[in-house]
Parts: sequence; C-alpha cells; structure tokens
Amino acid sequence: MSNNQPKGPIGIFDSGVGGLTIARAVRELMPNEDILYFGDTLHLPYGEKSPDAIRRYSEAIARFLLKNEAKCILIACNSASANAFHHLKKTFPDVLFINVIDPVVDFIRLNKFSSVGVIGTKATITSLAYQKRLDGISNQIIAKATPLLAAMIEEGFTDGNVAESVITAYLGNDHVSQSDALILGCTHYPLISEKIKQVVSDQCTIIDGPGIIAEYTKNQLEDLALVAERKKPGTIRIYVSDHTPSFARLAGLFFGDNLDLKEQNLAYDPMG
Ligand code: DGL
Repeated sequence: MSNNQPKGPIGIFDSGVGGLTIARAVRELMPNEDILYFGDTLHLPYGEKSPDAIRRYSEAIARFLLKNEAKCILIACNSASANAFHHLKKTFPDVLFINVIDPVVDFIRLNKFSSVGVIGTKATITSLAYQKRLDGISNQIIAKATPLLAAMIEEGFTDGNVAESVITAYLGNDHVSQSDALILGCTHYPLISEKIKQVVSDQCTIIDGPGIIAEYTKNQLEDLALVAERKKPGTIRIYVSDHTPSFARLAGLFFGDNLDLKEQNLAYDPMG
C-alpha cells in the first residue's frame, strides 16, 4: 500500500489529544497542506499498553490513514514511536513514516547538550528508545516515567493546583530536572511546558518537540518531492475511535469550533 501523491493529506496519529500539539505545529509551518488526524481515544492510554498492543493499534490506524490517501504518516505519539515505528516501516515498506523521537535526538546531537533528561510514559521509557538513540551523543542521560501527566492533561488539568502538585511530585528535586536539556517525551506534555519550566532548574532548556518535528517533516516532504502545490489553506479532518467530550473540547482549543470531527471504528487484528 503506498500513496506518493503530493496532494494527499499528511496523516498524523496519536492515542488522543497529545498529537494535536504536533498537528498544530505542522499546520503553522505548512498551512497549505491537508491534515488527516486520528486520535485512538478508545485505546488511550498507549503508555500503559504492551508493545504488541501498541503495534496492533498503530497498524490498524496506518491502514485507515493510507486508505484515505495519506502521503506520509507522522506518528505523533511517543509511546507508538518507541514501540511501533519499526513494525510499521516493515509492514508498509513504501510508506514514509516519521516518528517523534529521531527529530528531537538529531536536535540534541546538533546542539551538544552534555546532560539530557527525558520524561514520558512507561511504554516510552521502558522501551529504551530515547536512551539507546542518545547513547554516545550526551554524557549523561536521565530518563523517568511520569505516567500520571498524560492522564491529568486528558482530564483537562493543565493549570492550577492539581497540575502543579503532580508536576512537582515527579520533577521537584529530581536529577531529571537538573539536566542541561529536558525532552518532553510525550506529545501531551507541551500543553504543560510552562508549568514544567517553573519546576526544573534555571539552566535546563526545555526542548520544543512540536516545532522541531514539524520542521523535520517539512524537510522530509521536500526531499521526497511530496509538498502540496496548493495555494489556499489545507483542510483538517479529525477522526477518533471514541468520540469523547474532552477530546472535542481540547481539539476545539487547537483548531477552533468548526472542526471536522468524526468517529471511526477500526478493524483490529486480535492476533496481531
Ligand atoms: N500520546 C502519548 C505519548 O506521546 C501519551 C498518552 C498515552 O499514554 O496514550 O506517549
């Protein structure tokens, strides 16, 4: 299955709203591209799932996006990037897949941070995807799973006392927040980056994942002559596997109220 048409949409998927932080950055950088987004709200959180389950869900989503003519697939979920990227590339060898880990690791390599902290879901941190890629690039890598953060954000707690207490419990007085650079290794976390900034040490740079990933995607599309030649703004279509009010509310905050948001059930292969 392959779709190498520049006019096709950029396919983007995540387990929920987190990937919208990436979709928004892609939209800002490439306003004329069509975006086709899938949020797998039925199976959220991926961060608590096994690698096998994450691969199965990701494969079904990729099939859906490709059936709808996606010209590439941006895996806007760290848990899926860490656990399903290689599986997807092997399953669909002709398709351009972009994960959210490699662009950030490239950025760290170029900017030579001596110690790097990374926070993310259990599925991301235990996969060692960041730790392996950063090995030899930074002198010290400190990784920490912060599983409550994504659930807290999905529930709308991005500000106020609850957010502050949970962030401080994870990051206050912890080595991870003393590093030179902190990777927000979960696509939900940019929504609380200002709060995180208040807790980490002053010399710690918070890496802007969405901006870096959007730029990387643009370069890939240019290299493969896949940029749309459209002169007007592209469309944004959003599908979810379970239409929840919290997704609709957060998606509205990103892209306005006139959202093209639909529910779509996917066929999953239970045997993987
Ligand atoms: N979007 C997921 C990630 O970047 C976090 C939410 C989840 O656990 O599904 O890892």
